[in-house]
Amino acid sequence: MKDKFYITTPVYYANAQPHIGHAYTTVAADTIVRFKKLQEKETYFLTGTDEHGAKIAQKAKAERVEPLELVNGVVDDFKALWERLGIDYDVFTRTTDATHKKAIQMAMQRLYDKGIIYKGEYEGLYCVGCEQFKNESDLVDGKCPDHNTEPETMKEESYLMKMTEMQDWLVGAIKKDEFKIRPEKYKKEVLSFLEDNKLEDLSVSRKNVQWGISLPFDESHTVYVWFDAFLSYVTGLNWNGVEFIDDIGKKFWPSDVNLIGKDILRVHATIWPIMLKHLGLEISRGLFVHGHILSGGKKMSKTLGNVIGIDELVDEFGPEATRYLLLSAGQFGEDVDLTMERMREKYNADLANGLGNLLSRVVTLSSNFKFKFVNFNSILNDKILNDELGGKFGELIENFEFDKALKMIWKIVQDSNKLIEETKPWELAKQVESVGEFEKVMKKLFSNLLEVAGLLQIFMPETAGKIKKQLEMGEKEILFERK
Ligand code: MSP
Repeated sequence: MKDKFYITTPVYYANAQPHIGHAYTTVAADTIVRFKKLQEKETYFLTGTDEHGAKIAQKAKAERVEPLELVNGVVDDFKALWERLGIDYDVFTRTTDATHKKAIQMAMQRLYDKGIIYKGEYEGLYCVGCEQFKNESDLVDGKCPDHNTEPETMKEESYLMKMTEMQDWLVGAIKKDEFKIRPEKYKKEVLSFLEDNKLEDLSVSRKNVQWGISLPFDESHTVYVWFDAFLSYVTGLNWNGVEFIDDIGKKFWPSDVNLIGKDILRVHATIWPIMLKHLGLEISRGLFVHGHILSGGKKMSKTLGNVIGIDELVDEFGPEATRYLLLSAGQFGEDVDLTMERMREKYNADLANGLGNLLSRVVTLSSNFKFKFVNFNSILNDKILNDELGGKFGELIENFEFDKALKMIWKIVQDSNKLIEETKPWELAKQVESVGEFEKVMKKLFSNLLEVAGLLQIFMPETAGKIKKQLEMGEKEILFERK
């Protein structure tokens, strides 16, 4: 069997329109998958929506619609955005799918029968925005720092899942990288959290939330929304609560990486592997954690008026440039800061003046001076994987260092533009004695541009295709209009 690669994005809350943060994670996942495909791995890419729980119910109530009506609309928006951005996922899971719901009930029943889930009472602080229980130490001035709201005090009958007894196993699995958390700083963060806060058994049902999957053994409770959502990563591979029912799951499980933002690290690093272990499933190979997108140095918020809408971005720059602007914004594991102004500058410098201009100059030179493009049908994919440049590039992509990988590509663009300025090929072409030199320069430029197209295809698939086509056909089309 060919090597396989299974990646997931989080399943996004379907309580509101998709935003730039969702696009960031999803574009990154899509880019990785395209790279793995070039490596001829068999890939599976899951994304989807998280549609139950108090947060969705509250929003539906505020909008005076049924929860299902709300989420159906939002799901359409997510799918439309992914289509627009060229996201080539294999499955879009929804937690309201009948098969998903049945699998969750089966899983709950099995854990209950084994005594891993038991009836008790839960008392604690709950942030509806996070759909998570909070420790006092998580709060700033009594408020959840992510949502700026005071958590609710919750005291109710609940079913609990055993977590305490799994502490040592979990710490071991993380330390040994059996459950690998990258970048390293997030692994350290989780380990130090686990050292300071011993795991407590987790409330996995809610008596006061109706919008959810009811417990098969107690219909007055619904399943805790994170428990429900995590299992999307396996129900998306046709896991039915007991086993994978077909080849997809057998081939692709365990996930090679669950790609997530730092705000949902702790739940992913604790509840998720423990659930898998309890359910007798192999644990995921690990997590890759990215930072947040800030706007003008601050968290985006409607109150501050600094929200950069994803549609606004795609409308202005187009889908391909949006993919580029997101992944070139900074180091993926760290927070990155965006402003419309800086993005416009970057668009003009890198895309319109840099790459677009280079391609247009090379195509003009080749057609005006009858340069025939021969012998350059070099297999690009081979190039990506085999030559030295490709090796270095591959390493960066494996480490999710998108910004550095893109810089490598732009170095070739800059060098090529410099070569044109220095050699002035249009002058070389006019003299018989320098025609040989002209051809040499042109070959270098073609080869550089093919290399750029080869490397760029995982980030900007359509643009890469257009570059190759223009070089082959000599037809000119403006790639990026100046802003
Ligand atoms: N439904 C849960 C995930 C369940 S997975 C089993 C959830 N959904 S979410 O809609 O809030 O989306 C979370 C994802 O969006 C995370 O990866 C998060 O980091 C990302 N982002 C949300 N805001 C973000 C930024 N401002 N910047 C980058 N990504 C951010 O949590």
